[in-house]
Amino acid sequence: MRIALCPGSFDPITLGHLDIIERAVRLYDKVIVGVVENPNKSHLFSTEERVEMVTTSLVGMEKVEVSSFNGLLVEFAREHQVRVIIKGLRAISDFEHEFQMAHLNKKLASELETVFMMASPEYMFLSSSAVKEIALFGGSVAGLVPDNICFSLKNKLNKP
Ligand code: PNS
Repeated sequence: MRIALCPGSFDPITLGHLDIIERAVRLYDKVIVGVVENPNKSHLFSTEERVEMVTTSLVGMEKVEVSSFNGLLVEFAREHQVRVIIKGLRAISDFEHEFQMAHLNKKLASELETVFMMASPEYMFLSSSAVKEIALFGGSVAGLVPDNICFSLKNKLNKP
């Protein structure tokens, strides 16, 4: 069975993430969405909330499993018999960081491959941090995140 892993913070999940996950599902037998815990990074949503938001956004999608992880990505991949890590690449600015992570992960686990998918043009400049900023200042995030996430953001940020 070919299992791919789509890791991320998903704070919150965006339509750009969803697009990459949907495309991965077409290529692999099973896709695990790994939500990183990372206690060193401050997230707007708790790990449980992020897992729940991802799960709700993927409802009805077959062959997808959502799980949180802490520690090294390569260890999580090994535990789940994953051979492929899927990352979305947006504008050029993503490249340097992703390039570094792909090589370090390869050094840590040579059996793992990182496969990059170009973000679809409409999501090229979409990021969770931009979404949070727009929502924080009362702007509409419709068309940027799944509908359920619009509500989660409103609730979290207490906007009417
Ligand atoms: O959505 P993000 O914040 O770009 O996701 C980054 C993620 C989760 C892929 C990255 O932070 C990660 O792999 N974290 C796990 C810790 C780890 O393995 N670090 C070494 C990477 S070289």
